[in-house]
Amino acid sequence: MTLRRLPENIVNQIAAGEVVERPASAVKELVENAIDAGATKIDVVMREGGRTLITVTDNGRGMNAAELELCFERHATSKLPDDDLVHIQNLGFRGEAIPSIASVSRMTITSRNDGDENAWTLSVEGGRKGTLEPVGAPQGTRVEVRDIFFATPARLKFLKTVRSEFGAALDVIRRLAMAYPAIAFTLADEKRVALRVNSAQGDMFEAWLDRLGAIMGRDFADNSIKIDAERDGVKLSGYAGVPTFNRGNATMQFMFVNGRPVRDKLFTGAVRGAYMDLLARDRHPLLALFLDVPADHVDVNVHPAKAEVRFRDAGGVRGLIVGGLRHALAEQGHRASSTISGQALGAFQAQSMPLPFQSRVQNADHGQWREGAGGGMTHGLADQAYAYQAPLSSPGQPQAPGSPLSPEQHGQVQELQAYPLGAARSQLHETYIVSQTTSGLILVDQHAAHERLVMERMKKQLAEKDVARQILLLPEVVELDEVAANRIAERAEELSEMGLVLEPFGIGAIVVRETPAMLGECNIKGLVQDLADDLGELDTALALKDRLDDVCATMACHGSVRAGRRLNIDEMNALLREMEVTPHSGQCNHGRPTYVELQLSDIEKLFGRR
Ligand SMILES: Nc1ncnc2c1ncn2[C@@H]1O[C@H](COP(=O)(O)OP(=O)(O)OP(=O)(O)O)[C@@H](O)[C@H]1O
Ligand SMILES: [Mg+2]
Repeated sequence: MTLRRLPENIVNQIAAGEVVERPASAVKELVENAIDAGATKIDVVMREGGRTLITVTDNGRGMNAAELELCFERHATSKLPDDDLVHIQNLGFRGEAIPSIASVSRMTITSRNDGDENAWTLSVEGGRKGTLEPVGAPQGTRVEVRDIFFATPARLKFLKTVRSEFGAALDVIRRLAMAYPAIAFTLADEKRVALRVNSAQGDMFEAWLDRLGAIMGRDFADNSIKIDAERDGVKLSGYAGVPTFNRGNATMQFMFVNGRPVRDKLFTGAVRGAYMDLLARDRHPLLALFLDVPADHVDVNVHPAKAEVRFRDAGGVRGLIVGGLRHALAEQGHRASSTISGQALGAFQAQSMPLPFQSRVQNADHGQWREGAGGGMTHGLADQAYAYQAPLSSPGQPQAPGSPLSPEQHGQVQELQAYPLGAARSQLHETYIVSQTTSGLILVDQHAAHERLVMERMKKQLAEKDVARQILLLPEVVELDEVAANRIAERAEELSEMGLVLEPFGIGAIVVRETPAMLGECNIKGLVQDLADDLGELDTALALKDRLDDVCATMACHGSVRAGRRLNIDEMNALLREMEVTPHSGQCNHGRPTYVELQLSDIEKLFGRR
């Protein structure tokens, strides 16, 4: 075999193997070029999943005749004006995309530069260039890619279904659209426009939220928190969903570095860390985070399609993400997701109650309703309703639902209902607290809420190295299997710092002498057993401190006000007030909500009054 220099077209086809894997990658390159050209509107059309035709039309600065000739040449780029590979300002810089795509397809570019009187068009087929011709066209660039991979049939065989290729392109455009909210985008196939987002206005965060809502769903916009943090010149911005607004997979997590969508393990790990004790392991938050990193802190030149980046200080970036998210989530305090009350309302509406006056309620106004109700209600029902009006209870005692208030109680309700979680009015089924706010009502799951409060209290006490313990009158012996007992015994010292004092008691048993005071009376056997399970999952080299959240969660779970405990009004109000000032109290340790809120307007809808 003779050593030889490869012909240009083969070189381009090899490069295409890396850069243009499928139609969606061609779409990515062409849309990135349009963004780099300063376009404010970018329209993409794909036929048969991009296989027969891709067109990308933009209103950017365009190219003149000489530039149009040159852009098909390998390593021709306008984006590295001073050979500086560090301070890269654009999405592109390699000068590879167009020649690569052109080498495997039939490509036509029509472009009109700012100042030019007419546009120019040039076609290249399987790498062979045609002639430059003047045409009429508006300012900007239109790139047409026909029969992609016709010149490399092997690649063609690997294409998936039309739907999946189109879906991949949709994903690419969505990600770019999130990073560039000021640009309007459309993506269409032969039948319909699959994505249309208009240019978002307002300040940077408003525009982002608007665009993220358009792409990730309105619910995301309503249930996310603004993230705005900075450390050592690296900026983290964006929006992160509240924990109760979660998904079964991580596909709704988006990360951008200097305007470039990236997929990075560092990022997924940091997000998991930040939400660790707020969500069950198999649930994932939704978020879109934008990192702004000084150019010399990051290398984008590690991946041919630039989908990965390398950070100079990966630990610092990770810390910024975890810290920024934790901080923002803690500030949210008790907030839970608004979609939950929507689901609750849906459930209410699904049941139609067979009451005699129901049909009238639906299309009658308020006045007629009373008349109808009175007329329709049998004596028996009215008597029962009357019997419900229990005698006035003393202050501090739960109200029977619907009972009148003394002036003093009325004043208290008036005052307390201005708080976010309102004034406690009643307890139902010894499990749920009903509270009244100025604009609606709130239902709190007392067990879930209390569990969260205990956990947060415990973390705080631990941080202050001040865990109160209570000595058991009778030390409790817990039988475990031998491995579990040893695991617990090895951690005895660490556990005692957390308020749990125990020691080995022969083979396969543990004796517990003191427990954390805040747990109150707890199921010691259950607690020790669960802790042993936790420790089994924990790397032996890891200190309990590093898994504090997990351990605290397990403890809190055993110490909580279980469902079924009767609370008086003052206790209920105390719980609500504590929730309001406790970080993360909108969800229990498993990511379920601790309360739902129904607005009066929603309730009115239920009764057809709106
Ligand atoms: N839509 C467009 N509008 C204006 N100029 C464009 C457009 N698309 C390409 N160009 C010009 O053609 C050049 C080559 O584009 P190409 O995508 O091949 O390389 P690049 O964007 O410079 O780098 P990369 O290979 O990393 O994408 C660009 O540098 C730019 O000057
Ligand atoms: Mg490019």
